[in-house]
Amino acid sequence: MKLIITGGAGFIGSALIRYIINKTDTTIMNIDKLTYAGNLDSLISVVDNPQYNFAQIDICDGVALQKIFTEFQPDAVMHLAAESHVDRSIDGPAEFINTNIVGTYTLLEAARNYWQTLTDKSQFRFQHISTDEVYGSLGAEGLFTETTPYQPNSPYSASKAASDHLVRAWFHTFKFPVLTTNCSNNYGPYQFPEKLIPLIILNALEGKPLPIYGKGENIRDWLYVDDHASALYTVLKQGKLGEVYNIGGNYEKTNLEVVTTLCEILDELVPSTAPYKSLITYVTDRPGHDLRYAIDSNKIKNELNWQPQETFATGLRKTVQWYLENNDWCQRVLDGSYQRERLGKL
Ligand SMILES: NC(=O)c1ccc[n+]([C@@H]2O[C@H](COP(=O)([O-])OP(=O)(O)OC[C@H]3O[C@@H](n4cnc5c(N)ncnc54)[C@H](O)[C@@H]3O)[C@@H](O)[C@H]2O)c1
Repeated sequence: MKLIITGGAGFIGSALIRYIINKTDTTIMNIDKLTYAGNLDSLISVVDNPQYNFAQIDICDGVALQKIFTEFQPDAVMHLAAESHVDRSIDGPAEFINTNIVGTYTLLEAARNYWQTLTDKSQFRFQHISTDEVYGSLGAEGLFTETTPYQPNSPYSASKAASDHLVRAWFHTFKFPVLTTNCSNNYGPYQFPEKLIPLIILNALEGKPLPIYGKGENIRDWLYVDDHASALYTVLKQGKLGEVYNIGGNYEKTNLEVVTTLCEILDELVPSTAPYKSLITYVTDRPGHDLRYAIDSNKIKNELNWQPQETFATGLRKTVQWYLENNDWCQRVLDGSYQRERLGKL
């Protein structure tokens, strides 16, 4: 199989590429603009593998996309490229509208134009990777299912919701063969340290404050990134066209519980003079902060036989260990050298 993966230099995209190359003989074309969040250092383990290819392309560039589709002749697309950080979407929504909505539209059109040239159109797949945040916020009870109405609350989730609707419309209007997945919060190795878990680990190791929004009561459903990768590949291979699959770890935790658990693991692995919990600092809450996300993933479990391998305890410990053992990756991200080197090459 030949597969285009967009956003493959990001956190989940790079995990997905490593997963597919390690498990299959699929040939991959990674299409990534290399924004601040795209880091080719995360793909060092596969970069010399003949199954791996890379093209630096903005998904808003329809001409460049069309060219790569014609040259590479993919059997499927897995679309992960996006602006992905809620706080950045509040500070500056424009890039989110551009990449997540216009970019998804441009990619859909490039893929559809290519698909129309295929003799056997029935085997092609366009898989759109989205978030549970499109469903809005839950109260104390209930779970998001695939039929929960969309109620996005942040510029990020609104832009992802819009992209989901475009993908759905391309299926219904053009019979374009799509699949959509909506996943809960991911964590694991190679996550950019602006997101909660790596931020807390790295701040703790440097003795810096551990910032928690509000009272730390917001709840997220956490999934280890390699389990997300296996779910995405399962949906690509077995999902029913036009269907949506929710993916979650079924590990609901308050932000305070996540940070406290990280502090306890660090106390054990890297003892410090004072417990790391003493660094916790409560900061002004994010505007419009959704209270609770929780996923019902029975559909993918029952229909496609997918199960996550990691518990929250095993996944979180692995993650902390990875950050401890990969200080070089972290320092290159934190001091921006991975980006400076790239700019030097342009
Ligand atoms: N991180 C999560 O917890 C989570 C959960 C559910 C769904 N998702 C979705 O999964 C996908 C990947 O998330 P992530 O956490 O890996 O994001 P990320 O920010 O780590 O990576 C995004 C990647 O997309 C690339 N990119 C951005 N704009 C681009 C453009 N215009 N053209 C080409 N490439 C571009 C970046 O360079 C980067 O490599 C996103 O679509 C996100 O909405 C993420």
